[in-house]
Amino acid sequence: MDWGMKNRMSRIFKPDDGHTVMLAVDHGYFLGPVSRLEKPAETIEPLIPLVDSLMLTRGLLRNCINPKYNIPVVLRVSGGNSIIGGALSNEGITVSMQDALRLNVSAVALSIYVGTDHQHQTLINLANLINAAEDYGIPVLAVTAVGKELEKRDARYLSLSCRIAAELGARIVKTYYCEDFEKVIESCPVPVVIAGGPKMKSELDVLEIAYNAMARGAKGVDMGRNIWQSEWPQAMASAISSIVHKKASVKQAVDLFNSLKNRGR
Ligand code: R5P
Repeated sequence: MDWGMKNRMSRIFKPDDGHTVMLAVDHGYFLGPVSRLEKPAETIEPLIPLVDSLMLTRGLLRNCINPKYNIPVVLRVSGGNSIIGGALSNEGITVSMQDALRLNVSAVALSIYVGTDHQHQTLINLANLINAAEDYGIPVLAVTAVGKELEKRDARYLSLSCRIAAELGARIVKTYYCEDFEKVIESCPVPVVIAGGPKMKSELDVLEIAYNAMARGAKGVDMGRNIWQSEWPQAMASAISSIVHKKASVKQAVDLFNSLKNRGR
């Protein structure tokens, strides 16, 4: 790995433990002004000191994030559809490598939709993006997207998707936590981070998933809605970070969450 690639990876995965808390706020690229992200700066800014990187689009980065923040950026570079249009899987690459460099990103991220009508198209998107990004030492994060088909989130499907992404050259893979998650980890030779998915019933459910994913070999989380759609987003970000970076148990994370929540943070 060249210096630039190593440096970008170590900005995302903290050198002390090799783990990361990414804050995913890229949802608007197909969901528009999703709940609690209508005014992105108001939601994102208080969370910046509590997470290790931001995953977002160039439009949000340029317009809503003050460049004074020294936070690594994982730039969403795929899209081309919307929640009210045709197949969500019908994505292309939306950002040039030159613009990603101009934005000083630490990684670029793109979704693949294995098993859909657009499998070939999105896998070739990934390969093309990796070819371009590797020239400049920029890691590519592949998102194993399931679109609206949330029931696809099982170990068999996710192992297949993660492994294909890694074989094509993704440096980081983002997937979902699932039963037998260790099988996904064992068969994927690059670091895996987990998304949170739609908001869960309770904070405890989210903290349990983060804990179980880390215990089974994930290198971190790339979560969105379960942090910023919480009534207490800062407390959630801190509690998740305690699991990812401080080896907190679920109980310790819940206690931290409750104490921060009671202090109104
Ligand atoms: C999809 O909109 C994006 O890839 C999100 O970054 C990803 O789903 C993670 O966000 P959440 O935890 O809200 O699922």
